[in-house]
Amino acid sequence: MAKLKAAVLLSGSGTNLQALIDASARPGYGAEIVTVIANRPDAYGLVRAQNAGLPTDVVRHREFAERASFEAALHEALTARGAELVCLAGFMRVLTAWFVERWMNRLINIHPSLLPVFKGLEVHERVIAAGVRFTGCTVHYVRTDVDAGPIIVQGAVPVHGDDTPQTLQARVLEAEHRCYPLAVDLIAKQRVRVVGDLVQIDGAPPPTGHLINPDPDRATS
Ligand code: GAR
Repeated sequence: MAKLKAAVLLSGSGTNLQALIDASARPGYGAEIVTVIANRPDAYGLVRAQNAGLPTDVVRHREFAERASFEAALHEALTARGAELVCLAGFMRVLTAWFVERWMNRLINIHPSLLPVFKGLEVHERVIAAGVRFTGCTVHYVRTDVDAGPIIVQGAVPVHGDDTPQTLQARVLEAEHRCYPLAVDLIAKQRVRVVGDLVQIDGAPPPTGHLINPDPDRATS
């Protein structure tokens, strides 16, 4: 089967891009990265792409007077590279309905919480303040509502009593780096179907068992 041509859009460090680069080097992986697009020229993800020998494009949002022309330029760059799937990986621009509709069900995002809770920014700070015992990450199809859309893969991690936003972010990122490559591979292998607002995945059983936080086997009585 031909590899799915994926584009990665980012604004920053690009550790999720790195996970996708590493995964696409594995035999049997379903997708290849055809371009990495940043909206800022200093995004470190561009260096990761260049180190991996991948094409890059910079579409600077500041050079455009309005969102529509910025998104038209993004769309053009994606089309020119032959992208079939667009993966947002720390891309910190909200996309309008025009763009989302053009890439409907071919545009995915990773968010550092177990959606639909903790949408938006400063997620880890709010997770700690809420006192929840688990958080995680979500890979989902993009819709015009921010941080909403059919969920493809989620990864859960425990919150520790002494977590800072930084320690929690590091733990969630580890889960992100497994979830994003998995979601892209499942899509590439045509095992993901969008049915209404939900995703069905063919032949992908859930994990067995459950997690409890605190760990009942190690809690003192
Ligand atoms: C990731 O944690 C991703 O979930 C988050 O930005 C980070 C990018 O890290 N995305 C959002 O918050 C989108 N709303 P990376 O550049 O190292 O991949």
